[in-house]
Amino acid sequence: MERTLSIIKPDGVKKNVVGDIIGRFEKNGLRVAAMKKIWLSKEEAKGFYIVHKERPFYDSLTDFMSEGPIVVMVLEGENAIAKNREIMGATNPANALPGTIRKDHAENVERNTVHGSDSPESACFEISYFFSMLEIL
Ligand code: CMP
Repeated sequence: MERTLSIIKPDGVKKNVVGDIIGRFEKNGLRVAAMKKIWLSKEEAKGFYIVHKERPFYDSLTDFMSEGPIVVMVLEGENAIAKNREIMGATNPANALPGTIRKDHAENVERNTVHGSDSPESACFEISYFFSMLEIL
């Protein structure tokens, strides 16, 4: 059993596809262990994406992530990190496989609808960025 952090980004919330996205996780054997809708400040978005602080897209990415509400979730299941990434599809929707969330909903490499942790270490940091132990059931 593994846990991963999932975010439905501002573009996904605005398009009103939250239910569609959660349904895909559930159909693929992942369980929502914690969930909330929040609106990040620019500073909070910068803290979350701190590993990308040297990237050229850091400023634009953190503007985007703070432009509207997001839904953050802890997903739980067997191989949850890899399974979530498979369901999301490639970071750039142009490279995403048919049937993935990003292929169906994402606009471009930045406005790509969902985020998922890429390793157990980042899952640990990212889950604790948003949730306390008492909120994960
Ligand atoms: P995510 O999986 O949340 O991880 C980092 C995010 O940075 C990524 O999704 C995209 O939203 C964004 N990103 C990654 N690569 C680029 C890029 N080349 N240009 C703009 N944004 C990017």
